[in-house]
Amino acid sequence: MRTEQPKMIYLKDYKAPDYLIDETHLTFELHDDHTLVHAQLVMRRNPALGSDLPPLELDGQELELLSLALNDRALGEADYQLTDSHLTLHPDSASFVIDSSVRIHPETNTALEGLYKSSGMFCTQCEAEGFRKITYYLDRPDVMSKFTTTLSAEQHSYPVLLSNGNPIASGSEEDGRHWATWEDPFMKPAYLFALVAGDLWCVEDSFTTMTEREVALRIYVEPENIDKCQHAMDSLKKSMRWDEQTYGREYDLDIFMIVAVNDFNMGAMENKGLNIFNSSAVLAKAETATDAAHQRVEAIVAHEYFHNWSGNRVTCRDWFQLSLKEGFTVFRDSQFSADMNSPTVKRIEDVAYLRTHQFAEDAGPLAHSVRPDAFIEISNFYTLTVYEKGSEVVRMIQTLLGAEGFRKGSDLYFERHDGQAVTCDDFIKAMEDANGVDLTQFKRWYSQAGTPRLQVSEAYDADAQRYTLTFKQSCPATPGQTEKLPFVIPVELGLIGAQGQALPLQLEGEAAAGADTRVISIDQAEQQVVFFGVAEQPLPSLLRSFSAPVKLSFPYSRDQLMFLMQHDSDGFNRWEASQQLAVQVLEELVGQQQRGEPMVMDQRLISALETVLADEMLDPAMVSEMLSLPGEGYLTEIAEVADVDAIHAAREFAREALAQALYAPLWQRYQAYREVSRNSPYVAEAEHFARRRLQNIALSYLMLTGKEQVLEACLEQFEHCDNMTERMAALAVLVNSTHTEARAKALASFAEFFKDNALVMDQWFSVQAASTMPGGLARVEELMQHPAFNLKNPNKVRAVIGAFGGQNAINFHQLDGSGYRFLADQVITLNALNPQIASRLLSPLTRWRKYSPERQALMKAELERILASGELSSDVYEVVSKSLA
Ligand code: TRP
Ligand code: ZN
Repeated sequence: MRTEQPKMIYLKDYKAPDYLIDETHLTFELHDDHTLVHAQLVMRRNPALGSDLPPLELDGQELELLSLALNDRALGEADYQLTDSHLTLHPDSASFVIDSSVRIHPETNTALEGLYKSSGMFCTQCEAEGFRKITYYLDRPDVMSKFTTTLSAEQHSYPVLLSNGNPIASGSEEDGRHWATWEDPFMKPAYLFALVAGDLWCVEDSFTTMTEREVALRIYVEPENIDKCQHAMDSLKKSMRWDEQTYGREYDLDIFMIVAVNDFNMGAMENKGLNIFNSSAVLAKAETATDAAHQRVEAIVAHEYFHNWSGNRVTCRDWFQLSLKEGFTVFRDSQFSADMNSPTVKRIEDVAYLRTHQFAEDAGPLAHSVRPDAFIEISNFYTLTVYEKGSEVVRMIQTLLGAEGFRKGSDLYFERHDGQAVTCDDFIKAMEDANGVDLTQFKRWYSQAGTPRLQVSEAYDADAQRYTLTFKQSCPATPGQTEKLPFVIPVELGLIGAQGQALPLQLEGEAAAGADTRVISIDQAEQQVVFFGVAEQPLPSLLRSFSAPVKLSFPYSRDQLMFLMQHDSDGFNRWEASQQLAVQVLEELVGQQQRGEPMVMDQRLISALETVLADEMLDPAMVSEMLSLPGEGYLTEIAEVADVDAIHAAREFAREALAQALYAPLWQRYQAYREVSRNSPYVAEAEHFARRRLQNIALSYLMLTGKEQVLEACLEQFEHCDNMTERMAALAVLVNSTHTEARAKALASFAEFFKDNALVMDQWFSVQAASTMPGGLARVEELMQHPAFNLKNPNKVRAVIGAFGGQNAINFHQLDGSGYRFLADQVITLNALNPQIASRLLSPLTRWRKYSPERQALMKAELERILASGELSSDVYEVVSKSLA
């Protein structure tokens, strides 16, 4: 808990460290009621900064100091200063050795930061600033050291002892304890340190690198999960090969380990040679994990593996540079997932997610740039902006430089900075130097927050055969940033003729037309682009593949959008046209609902989707994406003032209208696909994901018609399928239906069958917490009384409280304020247990400015109540105070 006034930390105050730590030798004595940590630090004055000897200020929190020595001389209390957060010493020579011993309490650590226990095993989470809860240290990423770690524990309960690098020695002692020593030959910052001790089994495999080195691969899990590791192992091997082929990056140790833990604040962590994963990001098999979960495992395994180069070999100078590793690594994992599955579908999923969630963050009180300039608590900056927008920024660099130029830049970056802690500027500089380009203006993407708007208008001169597009960009003010300068916005575009053909693209000064899809760089506040030799009035296809994270507007009519859905050669933009058409229709319905008029659905949306559904040649994954109406979250984000009830009513009305009108083709598709699923075993591959996806979307529409044969089909699927994807989809549909008896029966039998599988129970919890049926809050409160619920387990909190606040607008935003009050109560409780989780859970309340004055007042009152509730963690304090500012 915070005892001093929370302090804002600024990028502009960055100073290189006064001292360096060449070697770090750690010894852990793990016991059930305490742990002893001895650290020997081989240190010296940073030669770049001079030869004087300023005080040495080590970070340390919640440590009980037992002994301290400088160059083997024991220090007394007069020799150092100790506060809640620092230990200050006074070195008397340029090189010296510090020995410290501390006592810590992993067994009572509920914050899950530093060393803690999860389901009986010891594990660590040190990023960003958790290492200071383990020992006194220079806990900052620009201090890199060579680590040796010895752990000792009772052998029977903790037969497996792991740390970073290679095992170099081990042994048993007479008292039933044993020990192991690990040595990591690579210099690393403390945030990449890891340790694990537990009763674990492992699945073993091996990988031969591009230079023919053998690497042992091990995935450690609790014994009962040993049958759920194959998919992660396959994903790991694919990732290793892909990084060699796509980036020329080879793995560098003889062993790579993944450990699955049940209590984890995030998805996973890239500790050198010893990744620690939330079990939900490792375990997957057909019977217990959905297709989406399989894809998530593949993506997270890849993400953490890719960090070995983008993050570990080349790391961050300071935490303001977090996107240097996270934006780049998200970009790398999204390229990987695109290559393993369908690139267009992956792009659609990423963009839908970005526009719903990151755009909302960028428009709210916590908006910050990809490289923030200030923070109170760094854990609050593991955000959609740093991760997903950061990835979009890297993607734009690739779009501007081309794939080859980008690879040259990344090669130079890795070569030039291997073993260093660097900045986003260094990344850009490598891209510039490798390509002979100037990215000075482009760098505004790192410093300016907010989502740019790009307004486009057209003019066609038939006589001169000239077509002009005018681009106007602007960017709304964000906290602390009122004036914004123009961004460099790469706009990939094409022109389409009346027959659906691509028109040649010839720009001013060009002798002939170039490719028929091209990237135009918009870098002025207002800018015209003129196309020559345009023989007919074209329809522009703009921002293909979503080439920049902006809000683009062009005054398309609904008929034009239907035309683009059919004819655009860019798959992403065909989907985008379907979304824009749906948005127009839904916004019209919202207006009717608000005026108290009967809702009348534009038949064109129905007929457009009917055409999509009739197209047997179209990838079922694309059909699924087009059939999925924009979510309530996205409709909220694009609304000036979000009318929760009208949005929900309009979208449900549209879904029902579609279900009625398209009953026959949906039923036909559903039956055909269910037949395939019934007669072939589960396969975790893209085409199978696509088929099941469309099958399940069809089922959810069909169920809205209330027809008896659909309920029967749903129950048949629920009871007789061989995989969690079909079972969960059927359950979700039942939970959101009015078939109360069938719903209760299905929920009960599901829970009875899966009660011992925590990850499956998480799904059972969240499908109910997200149910939009009336009475949501009461249901959630009841779920929290269920024996499988546990407030100390982040996955459970996310499954119940997170799903309610984030995916159940109609219930969460009840006008009596009960949803807000509930969430605030949970945040106050969790603030004391796990500040990172408490702070993340707050996010729906931070969006209060989006709603009607009545709701705003209720939401604000809850934020104020949290602020006044007592001693707040820096995590919760920062989010609440900024939200109210
Ligand atoms: N670096 C991790 C990643 O791959 C993020 C992470 C894992 C993290 N655990 C954390 C960040 C705990 C903050 C706190 O993205
Ligand atoms: Zn990461």
